[in-house]
Amino acid sequence: YTAELDLSDIGKGTYPFYMLKEIDEQPAVMRKLSQIYADEAGKVKIDEAIVNALIEADRIYIIAAGTSYNAGYASKYLLEDLVEKPVELGIASEWGYNMPRLSEKPFFIFLSQSGETADSRQVLVKANELGVPSLTVTNVPGSTLSREATFTLLLHAGPEIAVASTKAYTAQIAALAFLAKATGTAIHNDKAANFDVVHELSIVAQSIEATLSEKELIESKVTGLLETTRNAFYIGRGQDYYVSMEASLKLKEISYIQCEGFAAGELKHGTIALIEDNTPVLALISNNPKVAAHTRGNVSEVAARGANVVTIVEQDAAIEGDDIVINNVHPYLSSISMVIPTQLIAYYASLHRGLDVDKPRNLAKSVTVE
Ligand code: G6P
Repeated sequence: YTAELDLSDIGKGTYPFYMLKEIDEQPAVMRKLSQIYADEAGKVKIDEAIVNALIEADRIYIIAAGTSYNAGYASKYLLEDLVEKPVELGIASEWGYNMPRLSEKPFFIFLSQSGETADSRQVLVKANELGVPSLTVTNVPGSTLSREATFTLLLHAGPEIAVASTKAYTAQIAALAFLAKATGTAIHNDKAANFDVVHELSIVAQSIEATLSEKELIESKVTGLLETTRNAFYIGRGQDYYVSMEASLKLKEISYIQCEGFAAGELKHGTIALIEDNTPVLALISNNPKVAAHTRGNVSEVAARGANVVTIVEQDAAIEGDDIVINNVHPYLSSISMVIPTQLIAYYASLHRGLDVDKPRNLAKSVTVE
């Protein structure tokens, strides 16, 4: 049973690939984080020094690469809402050379599964030279980024071995949810008071389990759609746009399909010209009334131009004919549950194309050169 997987186990067991094992471990990771970052009464436990440093800051800069960068976007809304500060994202490889003008009291958060990404470290070295306080959120205790930052928050996701990152992405969002809750509570933010992160993450864990029990359905959507295509698109708005970025990166990495994640409303400003008969378009629609209807509109537009559309929809936003329906979760955490079917889609696309899921060409798990 998926929830019982031992997170310290570094073997593949009966799994054909690490990636599938790591996808399956995600409900257990969500529960583990609640055990670590909350007490038995559900009160969040985050080092007060980190919370105080965040309260002192006037702006949060999240620096990361690859999937961790996408996790930063997926956490931006939640952090801004509860911590009441602007959150800006920085691509590590860009900021190393082109550090933009910072606010008066910046705080840097480095997201890094490995804690060893050289591009991120380059920014951290500059932050330290400038005397800017920093937090590394990482899966690896004692890693370079952890040692050199002011503070560390660990992901406790267990070793991630597949090159394509899955459980580190969802663990990063969950860990930042605890940080946001702790900080929001300290500043008496109303939304923080109403956001029971432990309870909401337990609902997320159940939603992930429900999706994991639909692997055959998800695999059947890949058949015919992604086995031979050269390109594909993920579309979504708001949080779903951020998940689209990660979903398309995952597909690119292990299936070698050229795939882009688009803000659905931007399609009409250029990209829709690429849609032709049978172009795969995967639409993410979470239960956000402000955007769901608009994304539906975009689905109709691409379908009318011949796209082969697959919809991935949260239950309360679902209509007849939707392809993959996932259980509702708290809107702050929808990126976690929404990304699961897209991880499985990437996995099956790679498998059906006969590729080495865990070791894609040209990629390394940890990139320690700039
Ligand atoms: C490499 C990996 C990616 C990962 C990125 C950032 O490119 O292939 O999966 O997202 O590095 O790694 P980090 O360890 O800093 O999260």
